Amino acid sequence: MNREFLPFHKPDIGEAEAEAVLDTLRSGWLTTGSKVKQFEADFAKYLGCSHAVAVNSCTAALHLALEAVGIEQGDEVIVPTMTFTASAEVVLYFKAKPVLVDCLPDTLNIDPDCVERAITAKTKAIIPVHFGGQPCDMDSILEIARRHKLYVIEDAAHALPSNYRGKRVGTIGDITCFSFYATKTITTGEGGMATTQNPEWAARMRMMSLHGISHDAWKRYTKEGSWYYEVLYPGFKYNLTDIAAAIGIEQLKKCDRFWQGRERIAHIYQKALADLQEIQLPTSREDAQHAWHLFVIQLNLERLKITRNEFIEALREQSIGTSVHFIPLHLHPYYRDRFGYKPEDFPNASAVFDRIVSLPIYPSMTESDVEKVIEAVTNITKANRR
Ligand SMILES: Cc1ncc(COP(=O)(O)O)c(C=O)c1O
Repeated sequence: MNREFLPFHKPDIGEAEAEAVLDTLRSGWLTTGSKVKQFEADFAKYLGCSHAVAVNSCTAALHLALEAVGIEQGDEVIVPTMTFTASAEVVLYFKAKPVLVDCLPDTLNIDPDCVERAITAKTKAIIPVHFGGQPCDMDSILEIARRHKLYVIEDAAHALPSNYRGKRVGTIGDITCFSFYATKTITTGEGGMATTQNPEWAARMRMMSLHGISHDAWKRYTKEGSWYYEVLYPGFKYNLTDIAAAIGIEQLKKCDRFWQGRERIAHIYQKALADLQEIQLPTSREDAQHAWHLFVIQLNLERLKITRNEFIEALREQSIGTSVHFIPLHLHPYYRDRFGYKPEDFPNASAVFDRIVSLPIYPSMTESDVEKVIEAVTNITKANRR
């Protein structure tokens, strides 16, 4: 067996990205400028949405989205517990409350019934997270949101590209936020994008992403720009650089090819691991296109002599990198102690946490890399059957 360590993720960066960065460096314009504008236009065209606002992380996009719809101190925002802390911490920036809810046991996406039960007079928004790149049950979530007059801010950090009932994720909720962090389906190192059909929210996010300065502040050092500007609100410093956007433009061109690569690996895993009773494979909705950012298996621990952590350690010994998505937020000290959440408040997420392992899935994996993962998972499972 090939003993070289197979990392959990490796970004697929080619010559085109390297050339684009060099071009940008040589152009003399490093920060927000024409490359960012092009990246936004390409992204909006790719998704078929009206507005795309580039920022320096998905966290920034989520923060700006909540700001644009008017979240305020004392409001409540419903967030799944099965997510990364960014989805909830942005709510806390406003001194508002992230109200955590449980996930569905199979897709690990937010459970719409739990959303409905968590709504109070203070609820202002829902942040569905498309876990692993599989779209949430958006029809149910939008219907609940409409009935209770709530905003829907989608955390699509994992979900480029994906579809739900014929619609691209990025064109469904009020505002959708994407991540271009180093491990994501396309990357700019660090980066993010907020998409919306609403021109006012787009303008607000754009302005607040650059200090709350009057429009086109980024142009003030260009020939067409003016030195004069006005500060209209106390904004943030969330703008994307042209260096990052240059990478993003090239990565976006490869987004479909990258997706095909991941989908192929997902199918190979599904087929090769289907007979192992000790492993529950990820499911995918019939009515959606899964982005396959993550391939999360669930161990049937009743059938195994080892724990999830021992399973991960055994894979590491076989030179395979894995990860765990996620440690549910209610188990982290901050959320547990500040809000008094208990494991039994989230039975599905709490039960699943001890069983989940994310296997490597990225387009630059070779057939032998994929084979190596399958062989190791199969051997470890068979050697540890109860
Ligand atoms: C579900 C989810 N939301 C948001 C983020 C934050 O993304 P970024 O690092 O671009 O701020 C992440 C990052 O891993 C994530 O997994």
